[in-house]
Amino acid sequence: MIEARGVSKLYGRGVYALQDLTLRIDKGEFVFLTGPSGAGKSTLLRLLLRQDVPSEGEMIVGGRNLAALTGRQVQSYRRSLGFVFQDFKLLQAKTVLENVAFVPRVLGLAVAQQQRRTFQVLKWVGLQHRMNAYPRELSGGEQQRIAIARALVNDPVIILADEPTGNLDPDLSLEIMNLLREVNARGTTVLIATHDRELIRRVGRRSLTLDHGRIVEVS
Ligand SMILES: Nc1ncnc2c1ncn2[C@@H]1O[C@H](COP(=O)(O)OP(=O)(O)OP(=O)(O)O)[C@@H](O)[C@H]1O
Ligand SMILES: [Mg+2]
Repeated sequence: MIEARGVSKLYGRGVYALQDLTLRIDKGEFVFLTGPSGAGKSTLLRLLLRQDVPSEGEMIVGGRNLAALTGRQVQSYRRSLGFVFQDFKLLQAKTVLENVAFVPRVLGLAVAQQQRRTFQVLKWVGLQHRMNAYPRELSGGEQQRIAIARALVNDPVIILADEPTGNLDPDLSLEIMNLLREVNARGTTVLIATHDRELIRRVGRRSLTLDHGRIVEVS
């Protein structure tokens, strides 16, 4: 499903964010990406989101070399993904319902289907009763659940998350992880970057440790 073949990413003068990285993540896997600050975790996610392309090597997702996609293909590729960020990135002027429904692919559906899908994911993250609230009226954990609902509303094949629990306490972090585990149990491939080793230990899934742009440990 996800493959990196000899991927390097060079920034400026000799700063390698990733160095000759080769990895493979199969369909339906749940994988953590960990390692110290500056190890290259976010860089790898950016390459997977096709926000950037490798300086050397190839990123292959679903059999397609991401660097070879045209502008239009990049858009449709991104719509097949769901992503979750540390800072939630919710639209403050929109309600919970609008935040989740405001996803291009969902907006392309018939109105009845849009509503059905939006209610379904809100119910699923347990926040259907808050659908008319604004993000500032929600707790951090609730905001992150909305961000996850938004990532899921497209029914993505892959969920990418960059420090999704970075702003949450340990109990809420575990709750968010359990939600992502449920997503995974329904067949979605999940890749989560986190420096929180304790959380990885508690969740107990495969982890790839990066350091200075290289994989230094697989467990
Ligand atoms: N746009 C950029 N320009 C120059 N250097 C960059 C850029 N983005 C990242 N880097 C460098 O690449 C390296 C990897 O950064 P990256 O953000 O991938 O690390 P990270 O593992 O996500 O760290 P953190 O845990 O702090 O989020 C770092 O040395 C960083 O300074
Ligand atoms: Mg990062």
